[in-house]
Formats: sequence, structure tokens, C-alpha cells
Amino acid sequence: MTSLPKIAVVLTGGTIDSVGKDRLDLAWYIEAGTRLGEGELLGSLPELATIADVRELPFRRMASHALVDSDWLALLRTIHATLDSGEADGVVVTHGTNTIEETAYFLHLTLKTDKPVVLVGSMRPSSGLSADGHLNLFNAIKVAADPASRGRGCLLVMNDTIFSARDMTKNSTYRVQAFQSRDLGPLGFADADGQVLYYHQPVRPHTVDTEFDVRDSDRLPRVDIVVSYVGADGTMIEAAAAAGARGIVSAATGAGRPTPAEDEAFDRVYKDKGVLMCLCSRVASGRVVRSPGLKKRGFVAADNLQPWKARLLLALALTRTSDADDIQRMFDTY
Ligand code: SIN
Repeated sequence: MTSLPKIAVVLTGGTIDSVGKDRLDLAWYIEAGTRLGEGELLGSLPELATIADVRELPFRRMASHALVDSDWLALLRTIHATLDSGEADGVVVTHGTNTIEETAYFLHLTLKTDKPVVLVGSMRPSSGLSADGHLNLFNAIKVAADPASRGRGCLLVMNDTIFSARDMTKNSTYRVQAFQSRDLGPLGFADADGQVLYYHQPVRPHTVDTEFDVRDSDRLPRVDIVVSYVGADGTMIEAAAAAGARGIVSAATGAGRPTPAEDEAFDRVYKDKGVLMCLCSRVASGRVVRSPGLKKRGFVAADNLQPWKARLLLALALTRTSDADDIQRMFDTY
């Protein structure tokens, strides 16, 4: 008899293991902060015994908007410890959906393994009517246990759909189909007939093929995001620089247009403090390109990354260099 793949499950919190006051509590449960006990979420899925040898790994549990860089670094080390020791063939991380895309992209860029690492969340608490977390988790474990998931970078499984960590983003506050890869599409599906099916492969380098190794770090360089709007001045930019930011992501209007007052402030904090600006857009899709003017000013453009993902890549880039052309190469690569 062939043995089942060994899958470790790390619970980090979020909605998927939350408990509401009754079955119609689909919104306020987040304030009560009540969670299932250890082993309860996996215990509610006896069907897992047919697809994987599953083990829960202890980790801190919280709402995902409470995470800080050191939580990411601890999670990276926890995943590595279990995969490197051979205790698991793949890892599933349950996570709040508010920031799951940031954690997923962080792992996509920093994991040094080609074994499957799959993130999963839910839009309704475990106690809710038509809770989506149980099937999402079952599907995530199925994807992590599937040999075809190896070498595809960090994945997100939500609503039967498999996404690349780089390309997906949360698109709705409460709908179960909240996640989309707007411009680029999903990689595949964990479908109703029990099959894991891939149709696309991420072509941008990830995991073992990136230059980022922060396993021994205890923090990342500070990078802030400043959102542009009609009449925005340089106050937020100056404040970020004063707080010690080494980089600032501009979530600018349209195809990447901060206000003239913001542009002046970006040039000033670069000249005075070497704070690098990365140009992004507050628009939900499309590329921001590096114009000759932006290059001349010593700044970089984020291609089609959302501002919060650009923040992450810029922070990782700043662990290697402060050279704008080299950082632009990284944005063009990853
Ligand atoms: C969170 O992100 O922790 C809460 C929201 C969610 O999981 O959907």
C-alpha cells in the first residue's frame, strides 16, 4: 500500500477558524475574536484521511490585519523547519483574507523550497450558515498533496480556484468569490469532481529562484505606502521619511501620477535622506511603467503589482541594494 502525502497545517487565524455568536453572525464575529480550539478545524474534516496524512503545527493565531513583519519571518522559519526536516511533503497555511495576498507573496519570494506551500482562508466564519472554510481547507490540502503543485511557488486556494501568490488580490469585502487574478487569471482549479487541474504555470521566478533569503533576519527595512488624491500635499511623505522609511510606495492616480506637491516631496526626501520612491497606481489593474523622467529622478515603477505587494518587494529589494536600476531589474523580474 502506498503511503499518503504528509501535509502540515499551520493555523494563523483569520475568519476560517473564527466562531460567531450564532449561525447568522457573518460580520461581528471578528470583534469577539472567538476561535476554534486546537485540532477542532481539522477534526471537522474526517474526509482528509483519504487524501493526506495531516498534522497541525502550532503557531500564533490572530486577525491578519494585526500581523507584522516579524510574524512573516517566524512563519517562514516554521514552514522551513517542517519541510527541511522531511516531516512534511507540503504545507497549508490557514490565514485571514484581509492580508493573505501579502503573506502569500512574501512566501513566494522568500521560500527556498519547491515543495507545495498553499494558503487558504474563508469569507464566512466556521460557525456560519454555508461556511466556506471547510471545503476551502479540504481543497487546499488536496492541492498541497498533489505532485503537480510542486515548483509552482506559493499558491492560494479559495472558492475552488488555485491562484499564484503574485497575481491574486482580494476583490470583495464579503463575497465568497472575493479573490481574483484580475489581469492574469487563475492557475487552475480544485474542482467538483475531486480533480486538481492546472492550466497555467507562473513564469516569473519565485522561491528557490529568487535572490532573497531572509530566513535569518528579524525585521525588514521600513517601506510605507502613500495614497494620492486630489489636493494631496507632501505631509504623509515627509512623515514616512521622518519615521525612518527607506522606501515609499506611491499609490498614485491613474497610470502613476502623484500630485505636483507629492512629486516635490518625493524628490526632497530622496535628496535629503535617500528615501526611494516606487511608483504604483491606486487603479485596480494594469501596469505602471518607468518613464525616462522617473528613471532620471532615481525612482522605480512597480509594473502591475498592487501597492501592498510592491511594498513587500521593495522591502526585500532593500535588503540587497539601494541602487534604483538594480531594484527596477527586480521589479521587472519578479
Ligand atoms: C482577517 O483577515 O483576519 C479577517 C478577515 C478574513 O479572514 O476574511
